[in-house]
Amino acid sequence: MASSYCHSFPPSYHLFPTDFSLRMKIPKIAYRQKRQFDSSQKPLKVIGFYGLKTPPYKLDGLEPYMSKRTLDMHWGGHHRDFLEGLNRQLEKDEILYGNTLDELVKVTYNNGNPLPEFNNAAEVWNHDFFWESMQPGGGDMPKLGVLQQIEKDFGSFTNFKEKFTEAALTLFGSGWVWLVLKREERRLAVIKTSNSICPLVWDDIPIINLDLWEHAYYLDYKNDRGKYVNVFMNHLVSWNAAMERMARAEAFVNLGEPKIPIA
Ligand SMILES: [Fe+2]
Repeated sequence: MASSYCHSFPPSYHLFPTDFSLRMKIPKIAYRQKRQFDSSQKPLKVIGFYGLKTPPYKLDGLEPYMSKRTLDMHWGGHHRDFLEGLNRQLEKDEILYGNTLDELVKVTYNNGNPLPEFNNAAEVWNHDFFWESMQPGGGDMPKLGVLQQIEKDFGSFTNFKEKFTEAALTLFGSGWVWLVLKREERRLAVIKTSNSICPLVWDDIPIINLDLWEHAYYLDYKNDRGKYVNVFMNHLVSWNAAMERMARAEAFVNLGEPKIPIA
């Protein structure tokens, strides 16, 4: 493995908004950076580095539907463990340096033969996305384009909810259920993935996800996954986030007829 790269400080896209109370690698990076300018001409070792992104609300912001106790344990424990595990792995693998997290998930999936870093990378991505798939006062109905697209692709919003719930309840073991936009088919679909798998690896565009690992709901709902899914759909899911994600996705997937004819 190459060990002689010499890089400046990691580009800013590595530095997500970070909880600086964490035992992060900043001091280590700063120290190595300082050495570069002080005296040593020796090449620096490259350190892969990602920060813990905070949810876009306070940790008690989803109560009473998802408790602060769950967020403390889930975001502050499990998510953080995935992140720290990933950073530890990346310290040993300079080849993976310089990717955005999206790119890292795809690269480490390695066309279905995942590298050791994949599980942690995908779980960090999935959790970042999950926290932003919820909001205080969530639930209810999507609006405008998202609702129209759901009605077009599922027949009705009720049909979509049934399909999403069924997928969640029939997922065996741990994993995720997703609303995704399929690029080629130009339509929304509900899919479920096992363990850490993230649909980015199939080039789907995620719109909403729901964590179906038991750690996501056990403290609040014990093993009643059905109740958890209902609460998510009725009180937590952020259709605002879905709307923003759909708007971004439409820069890459034309859901209507092209206004400019394709030559
Ligand atoms: Fe989780």
